[in-house]
Amino acid sequence: MPRTVVKMGGAYETKANLQGNALEVRNLNVFYHERAKLLQKGSAITQVLHDVSFCVGDGEIVGLCGESGCGKSTLSKALCGIVRDFSGEILFADERPLMVFQDPFGSLNPAKRVGWLLEEPLRADRARTWTSAERAARIAEVAQQVEIDEALFDRYPAELSGGQRQRVAIACAIMRKPRFLIADEPVSALDVTIQKQVLELLRSLHQSMDLSILFISHDLRVVYQVCDRVMIMRKGRILEQGVVRNVYQNPSHEYTRSLLTAAGIGS
Ligand SMILES: Nc1ncnc2c1ncn2[C@@H]1O[C@H](COP(=O)(O)OP(=O)(O)O)[C@@H](O)[C@H]1O
Ligand SMILES: [Mg+2]
Repeated sequence: MPRTVVKMGGAYETKANLQGNALEVRNLNVFYHERAKLLQKGSAITQVLHDVSFCVGDGEIVGLCGESGCGKSTLSKALCGIVRDFSGEILFADERPLMVFQDPFGSLNPAKRVGWLLEEPLRADRARTWTSAERAARIAEVAQQVEIDEALFDRYPAELSGGQRQRVAIACAIMRKPRFLIADEPVSALDVTIQKQVLELLRSLHQSMDLSILFISHDLRVVYQVCDRVMIMRKGRILEQGVVRNVYQNPSHEYTRSLLTAAGIGS
């Protein structure tokens, strides 16, 4: 089948000194090839992200908010290196974030037990080799941090509650002590009480590990609870960004105002 390949020349880099930032994204454009359109017309490239630029400071929680389909997960995938065609620059101060966790069902391999899943980031660590004793010690430490009982290690993801599954996903993501984490709709699939617990966990990890977080959510109220700054995305573009309170009290776009009203926040 003929196939148009776009050479985008986007670059990933790890730079020790990003002047106080954990992540810098410069002029990111992301494209998808669509097979169905390819058959119809021969032109099969859709641009999903348009000229996206932002920073996440060291130890900062930045929210990314926008309607379903606006490109939030595409951005998180691009940051994790699972998008092929992009242009622009993605600069990390540390290793590329290991894992995005979206819904608790999607992010964990259903065929593996919890103990195996927790160990995998350490087995796969390219930066160093962990002895089995070191792995066991690190897993015990993280399990305590995220409050997963070791009795769960023999279970499969399907045998956990939604909140437990999300704790396991978070444990996997922080296993190698990253400085930066991407949380893609981490609480959207959970009911309100469990949502609160998981948000509290993220906040406490943020504090104890000095973790920077890109927190993706379609829910402006959740963003208000956890984020320092917020970016509003519409149709693959960042419309505005700023300190959460400022953006919520004084949005500069009508679109932001309508999102706030829809969430029951605006006037
Ligand atoms: N693999 C893909 N191939 C083609 N189009 C895609 C693919 N993944 C997502 N899209 C499209 O990109 C747009 C943004 O999707 P997504 O990033 O998942 O949005 P969000 O996470 O904000 O809901 C949507 O129009 C979606 O249909
Ligand atoms: Mg999404």
